[in-house]
Amino acid sequence: MKLLKEKVMTEGIVLGDQVLKVDSFLNHQMDPVLMREVGSEFKRRFAGEGVTKVLTIESSGIAPAIMTALELGVPMIFARKHKSLTLKEDILVEKVYSFTKRETNEITVSKKFLHPEDRVLIIDDFLANGEAAFGLARIVEQVGASVAGIGIVIEKSFQPGARLLEEAGYRLDSLVRIASLEDGTVTFVEEVH
Ligand code: G4P
Repeated sequence: MKLLKEKVMTEGIVLGDQVLKVDSFLNHQMDPVLMREVGSEFKRRFAGEGVTKVLTIESSGIAPAIMTALELGVPMIFARKHKSLTLKEDILVEKVYSFTKRETNEITVSKKFLHPEDRVLIIDDFLANGEAAFGLARIVEQVGASVAGIGIVIEKSFQPGARLLEEAGYRLDSLVRIASLEDGTVTFVEEVH
């Protein structure tokens, strides 16, 4: 995705050789024109998968997920990281460990929004170790629904998440893939799309 790559190159800030700060268009301030393009690109890539729901995790996954759901004409659900006051019973819960933050979160989704016949497209902003994506997939599988695919805005291909998700048999499609952040420079994996 040309626009996304340009944004990463012009506005991304490399922190160490593991973390890319993109708070001017994805993680804090969000760029609605870019998010609209992200939604239509995910629609193009997953159009044949029979998707019935889009699932993400709060907070930065919500923007790309809602635009994708709008394009696909299906509802979007976001898993909560913090317990909701009104969400008490009939919840699906999974533990998600964050290597970046060195903490475990319990993520929750209400049972009433996922059904065994659903084909769920998981969308997230970043893929690092894959913990969030695996946690969301386990939520889908808890109810006997199927994972139609996993769409990621920025994949850090030098971390293990992408390989682990593919080895687990999921269809993974990332809009940009970063091979390295070494020496303060973003190096992309060669585009295949
Ligand atoms: P994983 O799910 O792939 O295992 O990733 P990890 O636990 O390492 O990620 C924890 C949080 O850090 C996630 O956001 C993830 O999106 C984010 N993250 C991981 N690598 C990067 C990076 O290089 N740059 C940026 N900007 N974020 C990264 P979160 O805590 O859930 O935040 P939010 O969605 O509430 O914004």
